[in-house]
Amino acid sequence: MEILWLDGNDASIGAKACEEISKRGIVLVRNIKSEQSLTEISKHFGQVFNPRHGSPNGVANIHPDHTLEGKGYTRTALLLHTDRSGMDNPPRFLITTVKKQSESGGHSTFVNGKHLQAQILSEDPKLFQLLRDSRMTQFQQEDRSFKCLPMFYGESKIRCRFDDGIYFNHSLAEKLPHLMRHLAKLQVRVAFKEGEGYILDNHWWLHGRDGFNGDREVLRLLINPVIIDALQKEEGKNTSKLILPDIDTTLLDFPPRFPTSC
Ligand SMILES: [Fe+2]
Repeated sequence: MEILWLDGNDASIGAKACEEISKRGIVLVRNIKSEQSLTEISKHFGQVFNPRHGSPNGVANIHPDHTLEGKGYTRTALLLHTDRSGMDNPPRFLITTVKKQSESGGHSTFVNGKHLQAQILSEDPKLFQLLRDSRMTQFQQEDRSFKCLPMFYGESKIRCRFDDGIYFNHSLAEKLPHLMRHLAKLQVRVAFKEGEGYILDNHWWLHGRDGFNGDREVLRLLINPVIIDALQKEEGKNTSKLILPDIDTTLLDFPPRFPTSC
């Protein structure tokens, strides 16, 4: 699948990016060279989710720093993952741009989660069922405890990580080589230069990066859709609704109701 590029010098980049994300879940961008540019685009998607190591405007500068926790702050590869995968409802959108290119390596990797689910359902239904079973995986949450959450959930959402923040049940663990082969078949790799990056739906696409040499710096914003107060009042409900459509084009309950126990 071809992924569209948008230019930061185009005044309508925010609107075009929203349209593309609703269709394909991802768009690549160039000429995004400042935190301000990222923030301006983010306004089209919703409100900033404040990260652990972000500045007051929510922008995280991801670069090698041994004083900060997290593999993102090293030079090692990050396998395909969902940002904040241990949350019941991970931040919906992710916007990044490369501030400083590495000397070598550091290519970004992507997998379309909807294509992954369709491929596994068609070729290995047993694995598909395991990945939809909340008893098969425990994800580390923000408070460091682990919670049973399925990798595939909702209509066609995905959460994923392959590091110290996940435990696999034996039934799924013995099929991990199969899952890795499915991921490898669909993986897209892109080398970004300075000012280039991507916007993606964090419930739809997995992302990662190769290991690298040098002082690579990436600016990143996590965003959630805006909650419509008016819609709440109109419907007379206590639960809020999100403004942007979900993958299946329905509006989401917020917070969503997912299985929480094994
Ligand atoms: Fe990430």
